[in-house]
Amino acid sequence: MSKRLGVGFIGSGFITRFHIQSWLAVRDADILGIWSPNSVHAAEAAALARSLGVGEARAYRSITEMIADPAIDALWLCGPNHRRVENLEEIVAALESGQGKLTGIACEKPLARNVAEAKRCVALIQRAGVLHGYLEDQLFTPSLLKGRALAWARGASITGRPYLARAAEEHSGPHMPWFWQGDLQGGGVLNDMMCHCVEVARFLLTDPAKPRASITPVKVTGQIHSLKWSRPEYARLLRETMGPEVDYAQRPSEDFARATIEYVDDAGRPLIAEVTTSWSFVGAGLRLSTELLGPEYSFSHNSLDTGGHLFLSRRVTGRSGEDLVEKQNAEQGLMPIVGNESAEYGYENENRHFARCFLDGRQPELNFLDGLEVVELLMTAYMSAEQGRTLAWKPPGLDTFVPAVAQGTWQP
Ligand SMILES: NC(=O)c1ccc[n+]([C@@H]2O[C@H](COP(=O)([O-])OP(=O)(O)OC[C@H]3O[C@@H](n4cnc5c(N)ncnc54)[C@H](O)[C@@H]3O)[C@@H](O)[C@H]2O)c1
Repeated sequence: MSKRLGVGFIGSGFITRFHIQSWLAVRDADILGIWSPNSVHAAEAAALARSLGVGEARAYRSITEMIADPAIDALWLCGPNHRRVENLEEIVAALESGQGKLTGIACEKPLARNVAEAKRCVALIQRAGVLHGYLEDQLFTPSLLKGRALAWARGASITGRPYLARAAEEHSGPHMPWFWQGDLQGGGVLNDMMCHCVEVARFLLTDPAKPRASITPVKVTGQIHSLKWSRPEYARLLRETMGPEVDYAQRPSEDFARATIEYVDDAGRPLIAEVTTSWSFVGAGLRLSTELLGPEYSFSHNSLDTGGHLFLSRRVTGRSGEDLVEKQNAEQGLMPIVGNESAEYGYENENRHFARCFLDGRQPELNFLDGLEVVELLMTAYMSAEQGRTLAWKPPGLDTFVPAVAQGTWQP
């Protein structure tokens, strides 16, 4: 057996718990550490990892203490967006002062809240001198990987490359107050979820035999709106459930966003990515939908079109939960069951891949530089939405641009 990878998590919230679940499918790495400012939550996440048998995890008192433990080889950066830069600064300080060593760092989406911060993250990871990965789980969704491979191998090889990709992510709104606060999160649903769709559409349109740079953005058109959550009754509901700091009557974020990204391939052929996201979708739960269209073929996937369904009559009035599907909206009627969410959304393949890259000393292809490019595209979409026009890529002023939503000055 080759050496095993010891992994420490920064953050013990929603996504860390998803990663811990997914670790059942990771064979050569163990979750050994958790740090989060809330020591009770960190201890609970460590206990979850131990109970699932995915590592003898323990809670650490600081990031530096976790890095100093020789058992920790790699970090999964899963704190909130507004702590990304300070987390990386602490990591770099610990490494530069010789308090420990790391092989790799994998960072959750989005890499940062704006281009300036994303560039700072790239500079910090380069200073750290470690391997780095960008955790975009949806590129590892099993049906998407297979659909892309087959569409290209069968359809594109005989009838020509695909030209249009569509990707959408929709649910009824995030689980924690900071996501709803433009200044902390970096924006609204565009920043939170369009990072997935932009990458999925780009991935589907890229020839699997060619590098990422074989298609290049040309123009970006974005649109944002607040369709639901700034209505007085919903702004009130949001305040009641998320706390007074989430005030959509005064400081709304967009709950709807769409963008069209026009690309060209290496032969100059036009390609289009249509992406749309919303926090105002009420269905069974989280819905991810994807399409890829070529001259004689098409691929489509919808995460709620599952094989299993559970029917619960009106007399079943149990407590609300997320046990059927992420961001579940109902506990009655005909509900889809996503059999293994951590596999379906890509986390299992994702974590197996990054653990293997770090163990092999191999720089993952999907890394901080890709995270930066995604942030650049998202900020261009915000800029376009604010200006009400299509922008040529890359627009001037992108490096210092902060969306009005993140500044707290946006009015729908
Ligand atoms: N890939 C996906 O689909 C996906 C889904 C959800 C979240 N995310 C990303 O994961 C990250 C975390 O989101 P979440 O849903 O787990 O949020 P969360 O609020 O549920 O959890 C955040 C965790 O970070 C901890 N934290 C607080 N202050 C911190 C600090 N200074 N440094 C480090 N950690 C700190 C909190 O205690 C908590 O444990 C975000 O960047 C989010 O965008 C990705």
